[in-house]
Amino acid sequence: MAAASDEFQARIDREERIEPQDWMPEGYRRTLVRQISQHAHSEVIGMQPEGGWISRAPSLERKVILLAKVQDEGGHGLYLYGAAETLGVSRDELIDAMHTGKAKYSSIFNYPALTWADVGAIGWLVDSAAIVNQVPLQRCSYGPYARAMMRICKEESFHQRQGYDIMLALARGSAAQREMAQDALNRWWWPTLMMFGPSDADSIHSSQSFAWKIKRYGNDELRQKFIDQAVPQAEVLGLKIPDDDLQWDAATGHYRIGAIDWDEFQQVVSGNGPCSRQRLAHHRQVQEDGAWVREAVAVHAAKHRAGSDGPKAAARNSDTAQEGRADAAV
Ligand code: 3HC
Repeated sequence: MAAASDEFQARIDREERIEPQDWMPEGYRRTLVRQISQHAHSEVIGMQPEGGWISRAPSLERKVILLAKVQDEGGHGLYLYGAAETLGVSRDELIDAMHTGKAKYSSIFNYPALTWADVGAIGWLVDSAAIVNQVPLQRCSYGPYARAMMRICKEESFHQRQGYDIMLALARGSAAQREMAQDALNRWWWPTLMMFGPSDADSIHSSQSFAWKIKRYGNDELRQKFIDQAVPQAEVLGLKIPDDDLQWDAATGHYRIGAIDWDEFQQVVSGNGPCSRQRLAHHRQVQEDGAWVREAVAVHAAKHRAGSDGPKAAARNSDTAQEGRADAAV
């Protein structure tokens, strides 16, 4: 086993991609299942705060764009659950782990989207943070995860732009609209910084994940990268970052920020965020309500399999299976 483990690490060090059929240490598999499934849960739970605004978006154009964005998030969940399943776990097991609190999802989605400006702030800040965190994951050593991230990152760029565009429209609008944009920034700024996870000193998984090239950068480094991008963007909007200690540090070439409230982060991560219970209850309900669809699709697919003969039936079966997977993720 030691030889297999050495050879595995040597492959990682040579920047070779690990694929599902390859031998891998159990810890590597477990780390990936944990991270990829948490990521998938985040994408799907992340549909909730914005989904509630689709019918209330201020114009037909904004509705259509938001609808597409929320659908994209569901699709991201689908790619990621698919990537996690290549590691030998079923979708049901993964979802059950979230429902029973064994698996987490991102802290950020436990905050409420109170106004239309929150939809802008989520797109601008949360999607920017997601991009900064996820671009390096395109180089993750595990092939299915890295490939899923390539598609996801492309779509996230569009999400980020739609959010910034909403903020720009509000910032250039009436005094009440500017105030709404500032209020959204005030509420989403600090939770967005927490998305990157605990500081490196408290990050229990980072060092092993660096060695396995699952993670390429530390939580603090990525957080800093996001801050350095977001501060000038806020200046263009004419909005104030809600941090009196924020200052440019010419010596390091980075912005310095005030203290992050890690107690709040711990509270949210342990299930006591402002919307934690609501998010999980909604997910459970939708999962339950959709049971008959999953059942019907499975029965339909089984019937086709039983009656399949020849290439036409095979093609039909493959279409049915794809549809089944798409439905099951909703
Ligand atoms: N929310 C909830 N839990 C978090 C967290 C956060 N923001 N940040 C860290 N944690 C958890 C970790 O999961 C870990 O707990 P666990 O052992 O129970 O899994 C613990 O805090 C310690 O953190 P570590 O830094 O040691 O954990 P990681 O090495 O896994 O790093 C991470 C955390 C940087 C979030 C990493 O897992 C990662 O890059 N994940 C993939 C990206 C992801 O999941 N993003 C979620 C947002 S998706 C999104 O934003 C959707 C988009 O459409 C907007």
